[in-house]
Amino acid sequence: MNEVPAHVGIIMDGNGRWAEARGRPRTDGHLEGLKTARKIVGAAVRSGLQYLTLYVFSTENWKRTRTEVNFILGLVKRYLIAELEYYRKDHLRLRHAGDKAGLPAEIAAEIQNVCDETKDHAGMQVILALNYGGRDEIVRSLRRIIAEDKTAMVDENLIHAHLDNPDIPDPDLIIRTAGEFRTSNFLLWEGAYAEYYISSTLWPDWTEEHFNKAIASYSGRQRKFGAVST
Ligand code: IPE
Ligand code: IPE
Ligand code: MG
Repeated sequence: MNEVPAHVGIIMDGNGRWAEARGRPRTDGHLEGLKTARKIVGAAVRSGLQYLTLYVFSTENWKRTRTEVNFILGLVKRYLIAELEYYRKDHLRLRHAGDKAGLPAEIAAEIQNVCDETKDHAGMQVILALNYGGRDEIVRSLRRIIAEDKTAMVDENLIHAHLDNPDIPDPDLIIRTAGEFRTSNFLLWEGAYAEYYISSTLWPDWTEEHFNKAIASYSGRQRKFGAVST
């Protein structure tokens, strides 16, 4: 049986449906989803996690209306400013995964600020996957390799070493809310051997109990990594 996972990734899905079911604009769902994210960060700390990656905005989410995109990015900025004190108090560390160059400068600067401010904190690390795509991350890794040495002998270790956060262990568990059975381009490289947990509950309705149930499900599984179990 597994211990508590060290690293959990969450595909926080269903904000739009939550709002639409109430006849409210999709943006209301994102606002509610942010409250859930704050709650689940606390739950993750209490459960003893070391790393929590939150899928906030994908490289494909630019296809949404400008209103929705701006609202989500605005929420992220508000989150970063509002949570810094909590990150300080509880010694949490903030990190980013994704293409910073493609983000509005003020958002990228705010992320950098909180990452810098919290870089020496030894508590749980919260990784915001923002303007993140698994394919994009692999492409950027290969570009960094080529920029360093065009004749490099490419292998898995070298690609891994040039990902966004090579020091962070692969996710043990990837949770997806709102009942979709797909990765939507989340942690394609790192998640090769992640356990998956799909919940039909929409992200704004998620509670600490839902999170603990996902962790318990993980703990009861047998991981084999391609080998034959004894
Ligand atoms: C997840 O909720 C948040 C983001 C993708 C930014 P959605 O906005 O995708 O919610 P649904 O899938 O439309 O319900
Ligand atoms: C995945 O959800 C991205 C995030 C949660 C940030 P989407 O709602 O964008 O995924 P699809 O479009 O249903 O695959
Ligand atoms: Mg969705």
